[in-house]
Amino acid sequence: MHAVIINGSPRVQNHSNTNRILRKFIDGFCEAGNTFELYSLSDITTWDFAREAYEKNDNIIFALPLYVECVPGLMMEFLETLPSKNKDTKLSFILQSGFAEGLQLRCGETYLKILTERLNCGYGGAIVKGDNFGIRFAEGEEVEKLTEPYKEIGKIFGKEGDFFNSKCVSFTGPEILPWLLRVYIGIYFKTGAKKNFAHMAKSWGCDKPIEYKPW
Ligand SMILES: Cc1cc2nc3c(=O)[nH]c(=O)nc-3n(C[C@H](O)[C@H](O)[C@H](O)COP(=O)(O)O)c2cc1C
Repeated sequence: MHAVIINGSPRVQNHSNTNRILRKFIDGFCEAGNTFELYSLSDITTWDFAREAYEKNDNIIFALPLYVECVPGLMMEFLETLPSKNKDTKLSFILQSGFAEGLQLRCGETYLKILTERLNCGYGGAIVKGDNFGIRFAEGEEVEKLTEPYKEIGKIFGKEGDFFNSKCVSFTGPEILPWLLRVYIGIYFKTGAKKNFAHMAKSWGCDKPIEYKPW
């Protein structure tokens, strides 16, 4: 099986969580001898190639982060340039996000189904998974550990060609976190998180306070 994989994140490839997730997914997908081509929409100079691959192939995977509850603006711009196809073309999706609860990705997931219809394609399902903020801050072995579960998903897609398998459906995890954990997270974001974000920003070379408002 051959798949065209399109990373819809506006973050440059080196820093994109989606890209790190895809590396593992592709490891699993290629195990049975499958092949792929990967395009990253953050590099606008590759859009013509990505569009051409979309037109010529019938097995397309869009991998995207949730940005403000839905599809990133840059990816929307790309989608608007795509031609209508036919139902033999299958669109499948890897939708991943920062916050952990499955519930907050469902609006985006529903939109992806509508999008598939509007592009006149067949729907190959979606992997829906949150709790990925940490990938951006991890390094080395820690990144491998956090992204490892996506390898299994890649293997399943490599065999079945879609995300309808029950393992893919349950991959999301909890729809809503237990209330005590939600209270804890709320307190953390109002206290310790601010300190940690300031520390991280400094380690990335930021020389202004994180509340700094240049405009
Ligand atoms: C502008 C922006 C908006 C975001 N909006 C959401 C959101 O609504 N819900 C959520 O859970 N995560 C949100 N996130 C977090 C990203 O989905 C998450 O960090 C993702 O792993 C980033 O993937 P990327 O590095 O490939 O872009 C947002 C991140 C950014 C930068």
